[in-house]
Amino acid sequence: MSSVVYLNGEYLPRSEAKLSVDERGFFFGDGVYEVTRAVDGHLFESGRHMKRLARGLRELRLEPSLSLADIEAISLELLQRNDITSGEGTVYLQITRGAAPRTHHFPPAGTPCTVFLSAQRFAVPHDKRATGVAVVTYPDIRWSRCDIKTVNLLAAVMAKQHAVDHGVFEAIFVKDGAITEGSHTNIFGVIDGELRTYPSSNLILPGITRDVVLDVARELGVPINETPFHTHHLPQLQECFLTGTTTDVMPVVSIDGVTVGDGKPGRTSMALYDALATRLYGAIPAGGR
Ligand code: PDD
Repeated sequence: MSSVVYLNGEYLPRSEAKLSVDERGFFFGDGVYEVTRAVDGHLFESGRHMKRLARGLRELRLEPSLSLADIEAISLELLQRNDITSGEGTVYLQITRGAAPRTHHFPPAGTPCTVFLSAQRFAVPHDKRATGVAVVTYPDIRWSRCDIKTVNLLAAVMAKQHAVDHGVFEAIFVKDGAITEGSHTNIFGVIDGELRTYPSSNLILPGITRDVVLDVARELGVPINETPFHTHHLPQLQECFLTGTTTDVMPVVSIDGVTVGDGKPGRTSMALYDALATRLYGAIPAGGR
């Protein structure tokens, strides 16, 4: 059965949802998106996602006719209509500057934004978490507004394909020697017992999972040092992990073929996963990690 999606005011079977060839998302990647986790029909950290979305809309001067409350209501409705009211799902949201004859500058005032949402079931990668994953480094060739969650994701596409070509889970970006983030994840290291991660700035996406993990690290008393770690620090890494809406906390056990720590998911990483899972599920999921 085809899933039901939302497009510009209508709920439609996915196969019937159509966009104009003049769509600015298609021409320019001129828009923003969010991916929100749904557990048992509830949106996880929806408030933080909506805040990040609002900021992105403001920065790009996008003015959809829908409010954030409307967007949350449509997300919940899609979970219902697609029968994802129990178990795991994700909601994808995309807002672009709409369809108009191609000009680099903004289209005429009054051009409606394109608003698209879909909901899908999600298989949590617990098996990968049990062993940890390998990653490869990739030059951070992105622009200097990585803090905006734009659909313009070409560098992320190239990086992730590089990871796939190397048979690993993720590519991590390196800028002037510093590890910034993954193609679709944030990254943390543990060095001398301290949690290290690239500071929130224009050069990374302020990940919602990153924020929640920093919160739970504070609660657990894990020392946090929001300064970048560099490629020359890699031999010193005791632990490393990725965070993201579709990744949770994912231990990294190898970088560019070199083993991290003892080659197993680290204790701090798994303690932080357990604390995140407690927020996601109310308890650590039955059947374990
Ligand atoms: N990606 N960094 C980048 C570049 C990302 O694209 C993402 C999310 C993250 C993690 O952010 P969050 O914790 O809010 O999911 C960090 C989404 C999941 C995607 O593109 O599918």
